[in-house]
Amino acid sequence: MSEDDARRRDAEDPGHRSLFLIPPAQGGNHEECAYFAGNSLGLQPRATRDELLSDLDSWATLGVEGHMDGGRPWVRYNELLTEPAARLVGALPEETVVMNTLTVNLHLLMVSFYRPRGERTRILIEESAFPSDRYAVRSHVRFHGLDPDLDVVATADPPAYLAAEGDKVALVLLGGVNYLTGELLDIPRITRAGHAAGAKVGWDLAHAAGNVPLELHAWGPDFGAWCTYKYLNSGPGALGGVFVHQRHLDDPSIQRFEGWWSTEPDTRFRMDPVCAPPKSADAWQISNPPVYAMSPVRTSLELFDRVGMTELRARSVRLTAYLESLLDGWCTVVTPRAPERRGCQLSLRVPDADGLSRRLSRAHGVIADSRNPDILRLAPTPLYSTYHDCWRAAEALRKEL
Ligand SMILES: Cc1ncc(COP(=O)(O)O)c(C=O)c1O
Repeated sequence: MSEDDARRRDAEDPGHRSLFLIPPAQGGNHEECAYFAGNSLGLQPRATRDELLSDLDSWATLGVEGHMDGGRPWVRYNELLTEPAARLVGALPEETVVMNTLTVNLHLLMVSFYRPRGERTRILIEESAFPSDRYAVRSHVRFHGLDPDLDVVATADPPAYLAAEGDKVALVLLGGVNYLTGELLDIPRITRAGHAAGAKVGWDLAHAAGNVPLELHAWGPDFGAWCTYKYLNSGPGALGGVFVHQRHLDDPSIQRFEGWWSTEPDTRFRMDPVCAPPKSADAWQISNPPVYAMSPVRTSLELFDRVGMTELRARSVRLTAYLESLLDGWCTVVTPRAPERRGCQLSLRVPDADGLSRRLSRAHGVIADSRNPDILRLAPTPLYSTYHDCWRAAEALRKEL
């Protein structure tokens, strides 16, 4: 397929590239890089800087009064993020909160949803779980006086494990889209299997949020958590999102770590001696939230609201299929072929993934990312990636492999 064909497809099926700042190419013949690392760090929306500066202005002009005054008073700022975040993951607003970062949130959620009792002590994760999740669950198991070598089980087939050993599983915690292979798991089916076995079920949606449509409320997991620096383009180390299913929001027996932001906002400043948590995911908050970290998330979520996940997913399926067609027959793609079993990422098995990724950038201006020793990840993201980017990636790979 030719470069002209890629250009024609871009004219017929444009994304929203003009809303983003595209980094210059580090090498090759093109001014802009072909960016495929939105699964690691999304690009900066053009609007982010001005929005952030306007939030900084409130501090400059109002000082402490910015908590209550100005266009976006800080005491309620986090609430601006709740509804758009809920829409993005198919949750109710009361089930959703943006706070902290992903691994911290997984810990806070495990405080509530990993309650080992009797024989039911295990946490089930996937075989290629993200290392941070492994470390988090292992440390949580140790925290309960248990042995992570026995009670953290990694499996390639969660439903089969649940059918065989489900009565020993306290918590199922899986990645919705696997970070390494790009596989989208069947979230509703595995959630049902976990619940049928009597376990709690949570999802790490780092690679799913903003990448694939989610219906968390309807699918019914106990909790979910995601980051906003990948597909949600909110910047390095940006805040995470949390979902807690409605059925847990009015449960006085649930365990939770608390701080002053866990209490009802209307009575927070009475400084009562005992916390009175709201019947919402806000109850999982602890500290007063970082306004200048929330600002880019607000900007990004507005963009997702404007474009809509349905349109994005449709373009994503077309773009990834096009990239796959360019690689067909001469590259080993380990990501499932069926669009319903993946998001936008394609993972290729390659020799010397780190070296190849470096050469793609330095010689061709193509930014991919590698997971040593042999996986190269390419994520054409529907907001800003183009068919021409895909063509460039395939050409560069053909030269380098
Ligand atoms: C699947 C997955 N889980 C967890 C993390 C860790 O996220 P954080 O550093 O925000 O805690 C990442 C980071 O890339 C990830 O991809």
